[in-house]
Amino acid sequence: MKALVYEGPGRREWKEVPVPEITAPTDAIVRVDAVTICGTDLHILKGDVPAVEPGRILGHEAVGTVTEVGPAVGGLTAGDRVLVSCISACGRCRYCRTARYGQCLGGGGWILGHRVDGTQAEYLRVPFADTSTHHLPGGVSDESALMLADILPTSYEVGVLNGGVSPGDTVVVVGAGPIGLAAIGTARLFSPSTVVAVDLAQSRLDAAKRFGADVTIGAHADPAARVAELTGGLGADVAIEAVGVPETFELCTRLVRPGGRVANVGVHGAPATLHLEDLWIRDVTITTGLVDTYSTPTLLKMVTAGRLDAAPFITHRFGLHDMEKAYETFSRAAETGALKVVLTRE
Ligand SMILES: NC(=O)c1ccc[n+]([C@@H]2O[C@H](COP(=O)([O-])OP(=O)(O)OC[C@H]3O[C@@H](n4cnc5c(N)ncnc54)[C@H](O)[C@@H]3O)[C@@H](O)[C@H]2O)c1
Ligand SMILES: [Zn+2]
Ligand SMILES: [Zn+2]
Repeated sequence: MKALVYEGPGRREWKEVPVPEITAPTDAIVRVDAVTICGTDLHILKGDVPAVEPGRILGHEAVGTVTEVGPAVGGLTAGDRVLVSCISACGRCRYCRTARYGQCLGGGGWILGHRVDGTQAEYLRVPFADTSTHHLPGGVSDESALMLADILPTSYEVGVLNGGVSPGDTVVVVGAGPIGLAAIGTARLFSPSTVVAVDLAQSRLDAAKRFGADVTIGAHADPAARVAELTGGLGADVAIEAVGVPETFELCTRLVRPGGRVANVGVHGAPATLHLEDLWIRDVTITTGLVDTYSTPTLLKMVTAGRLDAAPFITHRFGLHDMEKAYETFSRAAETGALKVVLTRE
């Protein structure tokens, strides 16, 4: 079969590799019907995630069809259509027992396309298959379901729920990439009074408007001053960091009102300064998090019922064998306007 293989920093190849086999009784083999690329895959390709070794098949988001199950898999049979989540769960450890699957101690967590071979392939081995996949109902398309593998649960759990977004809130989302846009979309489920998007790219601010931002703040404005103006000088109830650089985290701590919440979603590679000398007296709560995907069943119901529209994230479609072209398009998002690219089995 063909798969997208990480060959070391800066190098990737869509090439022939062996078809995966069941290696543990809890495994399933899934034929990949639809797959996408994440910004994290680009980070891996830059060499930012040293745990990923050359030879690793990338990708942690897929929709597919079960072709084979191990003897200990009870909830899946060949032919089932499933969502393969970015987080795997052993289902047994102390974190899994409290739905904190991202922190799994039993060999799960973020492993696909990281510590074990991932989804950007014709077939994939899914460890802990019973507790790491979701059955898909007939009413949801492959490509809409695919948005539930990572971006929607990440933004909802780590941004909106950790941020405690509530009716009437002013919510500022810093960074309007797929994650920030999904945060805007899922924040609106709670009827905030104002959603503000901050980004440097005009194309992303235009997308933020389409996803329901009321106000957009661009590169030439002073976001803290604009947010103060919008909130009678107080600041935002919730600031969601969806970039992953020190300056945007620090900006979020300045944007938020006394008693407000900063929900960090961005993956950081460099230290940010925590200005406790300003923050201690303002009752500010800061949360961090890796997605757990405990909200996936809820979000799947909402997408299936038409209460949450996943389709607008998809800007480009390719056949699975156009993987190289899809990477090209996704990695030049500023020029191509790419949000999520979807590759489907031909
Ligand atoms: N916590 C988790 O579990 C989790 C899961 C998935 C992704 N992430 C992280 O979420 C972040 C966002 O992901 P994405 O896919 O949307 O990324 P992305 O790169 O597509 O989007 C980031 C956006 O931030 C904007 N930006 C860059 N610098 C900025 C600045 N100084 N001020 C304002 N805007 C700025 C960019 O123009 C871009 O639109 C990344 O760090 C990603 O790794 C976290
Ligand atoms: Zn991802
Ligand atoms: Zn576990």
